[in-house]
Amino acid sequence: MSDLTTTLTDLCQEALAALESANDPEAAEDVRVRFIGRKGSLTAAMKQMGSVAPEDRPRGGQFANQIKQQITQAIEARLEELSRAASQAEAHAFDVTLPGRRRPLGRKHPLSRITEECIEVFRRMGFVVADGPDIEDEYHNFDALNTPNDHPSRDIQDTFYLPDGKLLRTQTSPVQIRVMERQQPPVRIVAPGRCFRRDTPDATHGMNFHQIEGLYVDEGVSLADLKGVLMTFAREVFGDNVRIRLRPHFFPFTEPSIECDVSFRKQADGSDQWLEIAGAGMVDPHVLEAVGYDSERYTGYAFGMGIDRIAMIRYQITDIRLLYENDLRFLSQF
Ligand code: DAH
Repeated sequence: MSDLTTTLTDLCQEALAALESANDPEAAEDVRVRFIGRKGSLTAAMKQMGSVAPEDRPRGGQFANQIKQQITQAIEARLEELSRAASQAEAHAFDVTLPGRRRPLGRKHPLSRITEECIEVFRRMGFVVADGPDIEDEYHNFDALNTPNDHPSRDIQDTFYLPDGKLLRTQTSPVQIRVMERQQPPVRIVAPGRCFRRDTPDATHGMNFHQIEGLYVDEGVSLADLKGVLMTFAREVFGDNVRIRLRPHFFPFTEPSIECDVSFRKQADGSDQWLEIAGAGMVDPHVLEAVGYDSERYTGYAFGMGIDRIAMIRYQITDIRLLYENDLRFLSQF
């Protein structure tokens, strides 16, 4: 019996010493395995029980249990001590004087900014925002806009047709039709959005680009009203020194039709430079009739501006493709 007691006592001393020098949780767990695990020294020591007198065996078992418990408690205590030390070390490792990690802030794409700015200007003049689908049908994109079947813009060279006969809208003008189909005059809307054309991309052309469409239909609307709105828009967006020029043009859905240019004094030599920013005109009576409006009673004007153009002028961007390449070196300049 005393043999077993001695063995167990020694074993306990040994375990406690090992724990003392265990400097991390793994080492402490290792003591558990080594001493009180299924193949540990305590289990091995119990084999001596065979040589203990039967009447002493219960006491021997009890003693062994006490030793096991003592070692278990010591392990738990050591583990707790180690984890407290670790979290303290971690707290000290946190340097509150270090500057925080900055999350890079995103920003709006120049096209979004210009679009929002245009909307804001038109909103102040009483326009509300309307929307239409990017995938259009021929009726809304062409027919209702008085565009004859043999018009070159309908050619598959110029328009992306989808297998089901629909197409990617080539202009925002179909939104005019969609709005007028839904409501009676007065109508005063702007419709910004993406357009698609089968162009060969170069510095001033892309296969997709953005327009903002405008439409005002009411009794007694005149070309002078259109001119006033275009002038006000140009001043708001390009500043008071801007000048505008209206040139006669042709669009199937307006009569008369005009193009609107804005002018800037070139800094280099003081000369004037004109840049086209919009097509416009008085809504053709055929268009009003296509949506069931009384073209004797109502007149209207419409315009379609190139948002990319406006962005390029405003930010002095020389290549439209930069707007679509998502290069952060470019985008983070705005
Ligand atoms: N939709 C024309 C284009 O893409 C632009 C345009 C011209 C729109 C005259 C209009 C307009 O509303 O009246 O070239």
